[in-house]
Amino acid sequence: MLDGMKTLKLGVIGTGSVVREIYEHLYFRSAYSRLISVEAICDTSDDALEAFGTAWRIPVERRFRDYQTMFEAVELDAVAVNTPDSLHAEPTVAALEAGLDVVLPKPTADTVRDVHRIIETADRTKRFLGVDFHKREDPAVRAARARVAAGAFGTLQSASLHMLDRLLVADPNHTPRFFSSPDFASTNSPVSFLTSHMADAFMVITGRRPVEVRAIGYRQKLPSLAPIAVEGYDLVDTSVLFEGGVSCHIVTGWALPNTADCLTVQSGRFIFSDGMLDLWDNHYGYREITASGIENRNVQFMTFERDGMVTGYGMECPGKIIGNILKHRNGELSADELATLRSPFALGLYTTLVCECAHASLATGTHQENGAVIGRTIDARALLSEQIGAAADRYFT
Ligand SMILES: NC(=O)c1ccc[n+]([C@@H]2O[C@H](COP(=O)([O-])OP(=O)(O)OC[C@H]3O[C@@H](n4cnc5c(N)ncnc54)[C@H](O)[C@@H]3O)[C@@H](O)[C@H]2O)c1
Repeated sequence: MLDGMKTLKLGVIGTGSVVREIYEHLYFRSAYSRLISVEAICDTSDDALEAFGTAWRIPVERRFRDYQTMFEAVELDAVAVNTPDSLHAEPTVAALEAGLDVVLPKPTADTVRDVHRIIETADRTKRFLGVDFHKREDPAVRAARARVAAGAFGTLQSASLHMLDRLLVADPNHTPRFFSSPDFASTNSPVSFLTSHMADAFMVITGRRPVEVRAIGYRQKLPSLAPIAVEGYDLVDTSVLFEGGVSCHIVTGWALPNTADCLTVQSGRFIFSDGMLDLWDNHYGYREITASGIENRNVQFMTFERDGMVTGYGMECPGKIIGNILKHRNGELSADELATLRSPFALGLYTTLVCECAHASLATGTHQENGAVIGRTIDARALLSEQIGAAADRYFT
């Protein structure tokens, strides 16, 4: 697929944690790197610009604090928008309007209103938009999707998924800091950071849309952190009723003790009329014992190879999007392929809908003395209509 393709001139907007932990490997150390030329970078933080710019030798005149200036000063084909969830829409819409293609990390945006605006702009400008939900390329998810579609297990009845990070992911007191900037776990939540992955994986596997959402959140560990306390949720249990009466619990959190044997402990059980499917089962086929402890590494997500290259579905998912941008620019995507890539499922509309409903459920929930918050049930279709009016019909025909 990669042979003979031209290089994509990429501008990177936002050079924070996700770039440091994942995307700089994609841009410079993966099988997809030869398709990518990072022409310019943009960040409102001088520190973030300096760290990435120096590490990857981006000329000083190609480092910007404002993306509109970058669009005007540098010839680009596409941008990677790696800003926080609530700040995806502005640069994405501006880039599409400027004739650029866009690759985004999940979730597409933190509100369905923003996702709808992004989708409408991509449709109108006919530019390519891809969202990196890396679990879509996880071999377990791909196999499950194919087996479910083939009817291997009968009718889906119920599912429960867990995704639990070690505390260091959310703890601003941990050294060295991982994803956590001082306000990370209070401005993000286990819902936006983790439930988004599992809700998307569920919908990729089953093709079902959400009907009702209710969340219960727990604020017991994070507020006790010191010296920086975090006003955020440790854990959120999101119950989603999907089309066809399928019940699904998605339990996500980031307060597992750092002694957990995986950075992310995850599992997914799907129960059908004629069978059952267990995904991940908490390990990924690689376990090591060293003087610092026992570690199960998710080598399928990212493997740091001996030659310095990085492989795994963490690279494949955004890498395929880069490949599709190039194909689209060359007119090589068929109408059917484009329709699939532009569908609201592919562009993450229903995933943001689940997350926004879960946040709305918590925001209107009742607070218990022990830090638990019991949310009320939110009607997904009604929330979408409140947010985008009659356009909601387009997503629930
Ligand atoms: N694929 C994954 O598993 C994964 C993992 C982590 C984060 N993410 C996603 O990646 C995105 C970024 O998360 P992060 O953890 O890197 O956040 P971060 O806060 O560490 O980095 C975001 C960067 O964007 C910059 N920024 C903010 N507004 C800007 C603007 N208008 N123009 C230019 N730069 C701007 C900030 O200064 C910061 O450096 C989020 O959407 C997050 O959900 C995905």
